[in-house]
Amino acid sequence: MTTVLEPATRHSGLDHRELRAAAVRVLLANWSGKGTVPSRSLYPHQWSWDSAFIAIGLRHLSPRRAQQELEWLLSAQWADGRVPHIAFNPEVPADAYFPSPDFWRSSRAGRHRGAPAHTETSGIVQPPVHALAAWLVHRADPRESARRGFLPRVAARLESWHRYLATHRDLGGGGLAAVLHPWEPGLDNSPCWDTPLGRVTPAPEDSYHRVDLDHSVAADRPTDLDYARYVRLARDYRDSGYDDGAPHAFQVEDPGFNALLIMSEHALAEILRTVGENPSPALARAERLTAALGERLWDPERRIFAPRELRDDRLLPVAGVSGLLPLAVPGLPRPLADALVSTARGERFRLGQVHMVPSYDLTDSQFDANRYWRGPSWFNTGWLVHRGLRACGHTAAADELREGILHDAWSSGFAEYVNPLTGDGRGIRDFSWTAALVLDLLADPREER
Ligand code: SER
Repeated sequence: MTTVLEPATRHSGLDHRELRAAAVRVLLANWSGKGTVPSRSLYPHQWSWDSAFIAIGLRHLSPRRAQQELEWLLSAQWADGRVPHIAFNPEVPADAYFPSPDFWRSSRAGRHRGAPAHTETSGIVQPPVHALAAWLVHRADPRESARRGFLPRVAARLESWHRYLATHRDLGGGGLAAVLHPWEPGLDNSPCWDTPLGRVTPAPEDSYHRVDLDHSVAADRPTDLDYARYVRLARDYRDSGYDDGAPHAFQVEDPGFNALLIMSEHALAEILRTVGENPSPALARAERLTAALGERLWDPERRIFAPRELRDDRLLPVAGVSGLLPLAVPGLPRPLADALVSTARGERFRLGQVHMVPSYDLTDSQFDANRYWRGPSWFNTGWLVHRGLRACGHTAAADELREGILHDAWSSGFAEYVNPLTGDGRGIRDFSWTAALVLDLLADPREER
């Protein structure tokens, strides 16, 4: 049974100055000298999409540090253009996180794809939020950005990242980027992946040791069976030499991943224009991706974007929060945007009646209010839906969601995610992107967004 929240009582008494100071403390404590760890305990290296969201918040604290955050991540980019989902810190003990550098073996197994020799990384990717982050970071202090030559330094790397996705990852041939592992769209154990993941033969459980359960409650984390399948997929990809053309047991086009790519293509066009280069290729890719998103991933029955499984070339009959993220895509046709808002407000997500935006369909039997991406509300997806609502002119709903995000961050101690029905924090606390996106939402709305 879902509790209906009264907006008037829900957000009362929140001191924004105190909240901001606490968010700053989290980010300072998680700064490693070159980048920011998502969490000192559970995620002690640099994660790709985390760093992009972190930079979006850091720009309000130190535009220079926000630039460094992105540049440090991009220095781990492979020559084929991929930005790896983890850049490992060699000073962190090998057993602090699994899968560790000796699992991925990027500098050896990824050598033919251009993995850097000077640093160890994972070999999979995460959603391409980086160009959007780079543009927002630049806008926070254009003079400091120009003085440090920030945009000219990152533009070519971002262009090569997007080209990698447009070429190596268009596995369905329909113009969208595909993901090869449930960690790539970032929504690891979402029920959206249950059908395609269910076909993957699990790795033997005695062939590795999970470290995540040392830092978080097992009921909040993926199951052992899901984990064994993640390990198998990653191991097979590694053993192919990280070859995108090799057969893949898991191949999906995800609407959230592609929506973020479109947003980033628009941001890249701004970046290219600013550095005096031609923005047309990025704009053309954005246009093609937007058309393909509508043609390939719109589910008219559920009135949401859905993942397409490439093995059977069919839409998966699921409603996950990634299907709402195209709301933030510039120029999404109005009827689709209106349908998404009504789906967000409907029984599957109950926007305005529950805490933030649940990561999965509240009405589905697979919804789990506490377990990682199987239902809990996350701050980055809340921030993206907020951005979409604002862009589409749903100002009151955006304002209410903003206040809800701020309140939930404060009351949960900057949790990784919260139970959408109760607001109770789940996962670990002092999570970096939660703090960073709070800083962004607290910033003066007249600042460049
Ligand atoms: N999110 C995954 C983890 O839990 C991998 O990035 O470790």
